[in-house]
This record gives sequence, structure tokens and C-alpha cells, in this order.
Amino acid sequence: EKGGWPSFMDKEIHEDPEAVANTLLGRFDDQGDIVLDEVHIGLDVFRQIDKIIVVACGTASYAGMVAKYAIEHWVRIPVEVELAHEFRYRDPILTPRTLVVAISQSGETMDTLMALRHAREQGSRVLAICNTQGASIPRESDAVLYTHAGPEIAVASTKAFVAQIVAAYLLGLYLAQVKGTMYRDEIRHILEQLKDMPQKIQWVLDNQAGNVEQAAKRMINAHSFLFLGRHVGYPVALEGALKLKEIAYTFTEGFAAGELKHGPIALVDAGEPVVVIVPSARGRNILHNKVISGIEEVKARGAFTIAVAELGDPDVEQYADVVFWRPVCPTLLSPLVDVVPLQLFAMDMAMLKGYDVDKPRNLAKSVTVE
Ligand code: F6R
Repeated sequence: EKGGWPSFMDKEIHEDPEAVANTLLGRFDDQGDIVLDEVHIGLDVFRQIDKIIVVACGTASYAGMVAKYAIEHWVRIPVEVELAHEFRYRDPILTPRTLVVAISQSGETMDTLMALRHAREQGSRVLAICNTQGASIPRESDAVLYTHAGPEIAVASTKAFVAQIVAAYLLGLYLAQVKGTMYRDEIRHILEQLKDMPQKIQWVLDNQAGNVEQAAKRMINAHSFLFLGRHVGYPVALEGALKLKEIAYTFTEGFAAGELKHGPIALVDAGEPVVVIVPSARGRNILHNKVISGIEEVKARGAFTIAVAELGDPDVEQYADVVFWRPVCPTLLSPLVDVVPLQLFAMDMAMLKGYDVDKPRNLAKSVTVE
């Protein structure tokens, strides 16, 4: 039940920290090694994996995009992310050394199920990342790594998304451990940083919710939104855009920030709201400056700019009309916190417009037809 929350969506967003913590729980030992005993794929098989293809739809596919950045960096093997409904029909290159990772909250998404069946027929191993025990997708996969977000009732996915990202990080760290592409100390260090993420998400919930609601009130009459992000901020931008169109029925488009001058900037007109995910400025991060100059460009054309940025960012307040702050955290892990204000923003916009945030029109919680 809703337990006093106005909606399941509100309750489930506030369960983001728990979803992250519970998905980590029991997946490492006292020495800080990753332990995925439940994943019944032999070490010899894992060692030989030379490519990963993530198949998923919607929000789950954006979790897959985040996984790509982390796993390629840690494991040094290519990770492709493919919408499940596109995958099967293009005769993808699959070998016994390809690991197909099917990400699905419900475990019943027909497009994803058909994709994994195809992969297995071609001789590849399939690992499911799933939130629903015993659903069709985990049943038909070679192995499963469950997300422990708890049942997700609201149609728009929130806590399951952060849990999917955590499961994908665990898979990446495990592969790095098995293949020896990272030192044990490095893996341990990232694991420690991951364990800090629930409290960072909690900080956003405790300290930014009011700020987000104020922003939603200011933008209630906006007809469209652009979302921009770069590197891991790119899938976060896509997810923020999807949440807002799904439940607030506002036209949104998410872009890679670098694409701005290749087309989307033509859409920017006076008053156009543009949401930008700003990477950390620490360590003289070159991406930070590039994204800041993107904000500058849209601002110069009169955009109303909303930034998601790190506390202490030296530049952002100069260009952003509104800032949703995130605590300091490692770049590869930052999607876990950056998505939170965007989930809240979509919910606030929908509530202010009087829509049912748990049951958006035309959508079903699990799409069991192709
Ligand atoms: C977005 C949303 C959908 C699902 C997609 C996949 O909020 O809920 O985009 O993410 O339909 O569903 P699952 O994860 O159940 O396969």
C-alpha cells in the first residue's frame, strides 16, 4: 500500500536509496570481492566473454547505456546497447563469447523476451537483470542477477531504474575481477563508493525536493523541454525526458549535449526550458567545460536553463536559472543521483497538472505484446 504517500510514484522515488542498498546487499564478501554465486555461468565462460550486448526497452535501455560507459571502462570489452525490438530483426552478430544482458523490471516485456530467445538460439549466453522473481525473462535466461528494488507499482519506472544500474555495475566489477582487468584494490574502492550512494541519493531527496517543486511550479505552462547530457549524463537526459513525457504529457526530447550545434539548437527559442546534466568540475574534467559552454549557448538564445550540477560547481550558477544540486560523487556512479531530481520533477509537473502519476494514459506497466 501507499503507506501515507500521495502516490506510489512518490513512495517509490523515496525508495531509491533502499533499492540501491538492497541490490548491493550480499553481493560482496568481507575482503571486498564481488560474489555473484547466484549467477550460474562458469568462470571459464565469463573469462572468455569478448562482447556484451544489452537488450532492453525504454527506461531499462537507459540503464543499459549507463552500463556501457562503466563496463567498457572497467572491463575493456565492447558493450552495445540495443532496443530489444530492433535487435532481433537486424541479424545481430552473436557468438558463444557474446554475453547478452536482458534488462527488465517486469521480466515480462515481450520484445525483450523475443530478443533473448533469439540470442540463445544463436548460441550466446543470456544473463537477465530483473526485478521480478520467477518472471518469463529470468526463467528463460542462462542466469539472472535480480535487482532488489521491491515491487514497483507506479507505471513510470523509478526505483527499478537505479537498481538496474547498480546490478549492471556489479556485473561490470565482477567481470573485471574474473578477467583481471582491474586491481582488487580498485574494485574494492569502487565498491566502497557504491555503498555511499544510498546516502547521497537520500541527501537529494531531503534537500532538493522543495527546490524541484518550486521549479516545476515556474514551468507548469511550458509546452516542451529539451534535456541535454554528455557521457553518463546522456542516458540520464534521455531518462529525464522520458519520465516527463510519460506522466506529464509534455513534449520532451533528450539529446547528447555535443549534438546541440548539429541540429537541436535550432529549436531553442526565447523561454524554451532546457535541462542540462552537468558533469563534475573536479579534476579539471574537460567534459565539464564543454557542457557549460552548451548551457551558455542555449542561454544566449534566451533559453530557460535548469542544471543538475555538483555542489560547489564554480561556473554553473552563472548560466543556469535553476540548479538541482547533487553531492560530490564519482562520475561513473553519478547517474544514480542525477536521475532523482528528474524523477521528482516529472512527478511534480504531473501532479500540478492534476494527472494520475501512477497510471499515465495509454501506458501499461508491462508490455506483454510485441
Ligand atoms: C518508463 C517505463 C518503460 C519501461 C519499459 C521496459 O518509465 O516504465 O519505458 O522501462 O517498458 O519495461 P521492463 O523493464 O518491465 O522490461
